[in-house]
Formats: sequence, C-alpha cells, structure tokens
Amino acid sequence: HATYPFHGEHQSGILTPGPSDKQDFTGVVAYDVVSGTSRAGLQDLLKTLTTRGRMLTAGGAFPDLGPSQTPADSDVLGPNVPADGLTVAVGFGATLFDDRFGLAGRKPLKLKEMPPFPNDSLDPAWLHGDLLVQFCANHPDAVHHAMRDVARHTRGAIQPRWKIEGYSSPPRPSGTSRNLLGFKDGTANPTGSLAPDLVWVYDPKEPAWAQGGTYQVVRLIRMLVEFWDRVSINEQETMFGRRRDSGAPLDGTSEFDAPNYKKDPDGNVIPLNSHIRLANPRTHATADQRMIRRSYNYDLGIDLNGNMQAGHIFIAYQQDLERQFETVQRRLINEPLIDYVQPFGGGYFFVPPAARDASDHLGSGLF
Ligand code: HEM
Repeated sequence: HATYPFHGEHQSGILTPGPSDKQDFTGVVAYDVVSGTSRAGLQDLLKTLTTRGRMLTAGGAFPDLGPSQTPADSDVLGPNVPADGLTVAVGFGATLFDDRFGLAGRKPLKLKEMPPFPNDSLDPAWLHGDLLVQFCANHPDAVHHAMRDVARHTRGAIQPRWKIEGYSSPPRPSGTSRNLLGFKDGTANPTGSLAPDLVWVYDPKEPAWAQGGTYQVVRLIRMLVEFWDRVSINEQETMFGRRRDSGAPLDGTSEFDAPNYKKDPDGNVIPLNSHIRLANPRTHATADQRMIRRSYNYDLGIDLNGNMQAGHIFIAYQQDLERQFETVQRRLINEPLIDYVQPFGGGYFFVPPAARDASDHLGSGLF
C-alpha cells in the first residue's frame, strides 16, 4: 500500500487494511502541550497537526521558497515526497482534559492515565503524554521525515516527552510477522467484521465528538532476550501455547488452526497458564474482551551492562479499556512469561475519528 486515506470516519493506521496487516516501520511520539492554557491555541495546534498529516500522507512536492528562505522541507525523501504508506494517527491523553483547557466535560468517558500493573517497572520518562502520534510507513526514512516535519511545524506548542521507533518483520517464512522472542505475533487477531465491532467507539454515553474513535493502549515491554535464548524450545512453547516454527497452537498443525480448549479442559496440551489461553479463553463470556493488537519490535541498543535493550511496542485498540485490555492484562499477571519481559512505559490514549474532509480538523468536535 502506497497511500492510505487521511479523511473519513476513522483515522488510518489502526485497521490497515487487515487486522495483523501493518506497515513495516513505526515511530511513536508522546508530546506535552507547552503553549499555555488557551483553548484556541490547542485548536490551532490540532489544525496544524491535521494539515501536516494530510499533506504528508498524500505526498507530493513541497513549495520552493527560493534560495534565501529556509526550505519548506528537509528533502530527506527528495524533492517529490512519496507517501510511502505513511499514516499519522493522533491520540489524546487523559491530561489533555485536565483543568488547563477547560475540556474536562468533554473527556471520553473511559479515558484515564494508565495505572501501574503488578510486575511493571515504570520509568516516568517513558510514560503518558497529552498527545500521542503514531507514524507508520513502509520505510524508516518516511517515518523520520514525517516526525521531523511535525516537529518543525509545532515548535513552541508541543514538546516531545518520549519517542520510540519500531519495525515489523516480513513473513519468515510465511504468515504473521515474528516478535523478538521468535514467535509469530498477531495470529489470533479478530478479523473481518469482528474487528471494527471490537475497536470503534459507538456508544451514546460517550461524547458526540468521540463517536468513531478508539481507545489505544501502548505498553513498552523490554524482552530479556539473552535470558530467553537460554530457555528450551519446549518451555518456550508451553509458555505461549503455540509452536515457535509454525505458530500453530500446540493442539494444531498450522498457524491459523483454532485451539480447542473444550477438548483439553485440564490444560494437558495447551497449559491453562499459557499466554494464549489466559489472554483469550475462547468462551462466550470472554468474547467481548478481545482487542486488536498492532505491535512492533524496538531496539534501543545496549544497557550499561552490555545487555540488549530490545523488546515489544505493544499497541492495542479497543472500545473499552477496562472490559478489554485491563481484563486481559489482569489474567496475564502471573503468567510464566513475566520472568522474561519487563514493561517500562507507555500510556492510554483516545484516538479520535478522522477529519471528515479538507475543511475539517482532528478533534474539531471538542471546540
Ligand atoms: C497472543 C506475544 C503481551 C494479549 C500472543 C501470541 C504471542 C504473543 C506470540 C500468539 C500469537 C497471536 O495470536 O498473536 C506477546 C508478548 C508479549 C505480549 C511477547 C509481551 C512482551 C501481551 C499483553 C496482552 C496480550 C500485554 C494484553 C493485555 C494477547 C492476546 C492474544 C495474544 C489477546 C491472542 C490470544 C488468542 O486470541 O488466542 N501474544 N504478548 N499480549 N496476546 Fe500477547
């Protein structure tokens, strides 16, 4: 995909176009609004973000301002900017609805700051934000170019709080891309008409401006990869409940086979505390707890001890943070995998509906 629509009912970059289908590269940037408390100032900022997103995702030539002016573009992508599958999805953090802008009454009903969960070791430098922008594209230079363009046009209005870049593997050798623990990740995502029904907020109790939006969870999860590489394949597979080579559930033969928990009530084949069984017990009562995961790998180099600082940018979309993400997260609290992963940052955000057309801007219903 070379271009994704910028206008419409929902922002692009969430369900693109299939549930585990995503561009190969991402940059996730959380910002704080630093321009004061003016509501008009916030609206100007959202208009600017909309204009930049609209222009960058469409691609094309930037104006030539002449040799004595600061150039309109960095030219990182050359003079004719390709869209390159870029999506720019903007989300709002709970703090945007604090006293500063007088928007408390318009806050999405279920939006709050991400709480710490047991086994988290959260670093304030990697947490929350007034806004979160997720850039996704087919190449890292397109992500860089878009982040730099946004930085340039929003200077003085927003200040980056944290930023992480990620990538997703091509099929190796087939099917869904693999995470850095070597397992296919995204296999059991809801597909077809199920996905929109679990993701988009259409709830009369939510503010009118928020209809068609979605709640986004970002969890920055370090993987202790050196430690993981010393674990037997058998133990790795029982932790997930799937085969590492094919991605098949332990009671199946190919990646997309559905596990049959009714036939295995005691967990002799797929352990009761395996990741997939805890995450989705596949009962009637837990069906509405499913979510769309759209995660990426990150690599931040090495830590002070020379260990690889790499892991998972877990990103999930849902209608209801408590009914979906938090319920599943609570079930996963003591899963065996926790010895090999270390959540350190992220946040909760509300991704509003897209700008309807060229005359509209993101979050216009707030004002
Ligand atoms: C499934 C990895 C964290 C929710 C899976 C699968 C893998 C995986 C390999 C199986 C393939 C698939 O269906 O995608 C990981 C890793 C994590 C992590 C490495 C942390 C580093 C989480 C978290 C949640 C979560 C924090 C939500 C709270 C799910 C769900 C499924 C799943 C809902 C699908 C289960 C099913 O429907 O069968 N995960 N996951 N995962 N994971 Fe995770």
